[in-house]
Amino acid sequence: PQVRYYSLVVSEGYGNPDGFARQMLVVNGTYPGPTIVANENDRMIITVHNAMLNNATAIHWHGLYQNTTPFYDGAHGISQCGIPPGQSFTYNFTLDGWTGTTWYHSHYQTQYTDGAVGALVINPSNATTNADGQQVTPAPTAPNLPEWDADFVVILQDWYHGQSQDVLEQYMSPNGPDGTQGDEPTPESGTINGQGQWLGGGTYQTFALQAGKTYRFRLINSGSLGNVRFSIDDHPLTIVSADGVDVQPVEVAGVEIAVAQRYDVLVRTNQTTGGQWWMRGTVLTDMFTYSLPDAWYDHRAVLSYPVASPSSTPLNSSSPDPGPGFPGLGDLGTKDYTALTPALAGVVPGPDVTYVVQDTFERAQNSLYYGYMNGTSWAPLEGETTMTLLSTPSFLSALVPGPSFPEGQYLLTSLNISVVDLILYNIDDGDHPFHLHGHRPWFVGTGSGAYDGQALNATGAMLRDTHVVPNYSWIALRFVTDNPGIWAFHCHIAWHMGAGLLMQIASQPQVALSYGMPQEVVEQCAAGQGGQGVNG
Ligand code: C2O
Repeated sequence: PQVRYYSLVVSEGYGNPDGFARQMLVVNGTYPGPTIVANENDRMIITVHNAMLNNATAIHWHGLYQNTTPFYDGAHGISQCGIPPGQSFTYNFTLDGWTGTTWYHSHYQTQYTDGAVGALVINPSNATTNADGQQVTPAPTAPNLPEWDADFVVILQDWYHGQSQDVLEQYMSPNGPDGTQGDEPTPESGTINGQGQWLGGGTYQTFALQAGKTYRFRLINSGSLGNVRFSIDDHPLTIVSADGVDVQPVEVAGVEIAVAQRYDVLVRTNQTTGGQWWMRGTVLTDMFTYSLPDAWYDHRAVLSYPVASPSSTPLNSSSPDPGPGFPGLGDLGTKDYTALTPALAGVVPGPDVTYVVQDTFERAQNSLYYGYMNGTSWAPLEGETTMTLLSTPSFLSALVPGPSFPEGQYLLTSLNISVVDLILYNIDDGDHPFHLHGHRPWFVGTGSGAYDGQALNATGAMLRDTHVVPNYSWIALRFVTDNPGIWAFHCHIAWHMGAGLLMQIASQPQVALSYGMPQEVVEQCAAGQGGQGVNG
């Protein structure tokens, strides 16, 4: 293992990723920010400098376990109070066995929507690398997967033209435009690696490849609401990884990615005519309340490699998606739960305990619209985090399971290691991509309506850090409480989390307390960063 030093500067900037100029956020001056690359078990020392004028920030390393370092999880209000403007904070953690494709993003309010995102690629140890240091063979633990020649990160994101703070306020407020309270804000467009083409403006990224090779594209949906469909004209995709978990290869025409999810796909440059193809990152409009023209969501990049008979006509930007040109291939959808199986079929333990939690939305007394988990709507605490609260004996004792348990904002799964079935009942008309920090739960069941003790099935269960729960349905997630800490469990739709759709899961809190809060975190809180407590 190595020690890797990175430095990230979050600042306001003026940019026009899709051709529309707006004030946005950039990391080290770019959107998306720089890709962070490391190997399994490396130690990461990442200094984040907040160069914004007025707002605090915190950077979350999506999906990582942060085993023994839950206070470096970057979740504002839960693991830290927020880096004040003009100050820096150093995250210092080991990668504890996590490998694959993930991303980092601001976890302070809805800041990531404005551009504070970047890719995080973690290679297994003992994988072969190419001249650029990229992993080109599967992990030794999954030797039957195909090899490839080089890889690329592809960050797909729905894109808004307003500042996310204003957009969130309108969503929650009864005084938004045209009485739209509770209607998810509709993005204006989308980007691929920070480039989109709104109303014909903007620019296209070109992936200049070699013929006769296999490329691994690491797809990340860093968006705030919409599913994104990824495809490449005339080239089928082979899915080999989902949320950093190697899977048995599955060939598809396209893959639909929910917010915060990732897929790695292999693409073979085996065509002999043409020489240029559209890569498409289409923001799907099915979750949008307002219908804006589909053309606003059609975002593209160019795939190019030398072929025997090159075409003399340039790519036509209005050409519709011809499909992969291989009959019989479909898309992987966001709710095709059984289509993927882990490449390494591990043993899934049986559950010790089952908890049912539920999500809802309603208009509160103060007439604002909030998301609720178990009847509580989350907001960050004033100058305090859940991790710092752990040192308060009354808070710790309140976490001990009682007769009416589980209820409310905190779920204490167990004081010791145990296997938990967490049933999430979604009492809302929309689907939600739910993310559990610090874990990769197994998906062990789903059904419509309320959970009624239906049998769960862990055979070949897929594990990932972000699972979609369909509207008016439940999903069952199984995980082991072997990672002490207080972990956020939330819908990753930025507007839903911003409206409070987040609860916290305590795993072995006394052990987490014994890790010792770094002085920097304590000082941040003393600087008074934070919010106003649980919503009304
Ligand atoms: Cu991608 Cu709570 O995070």
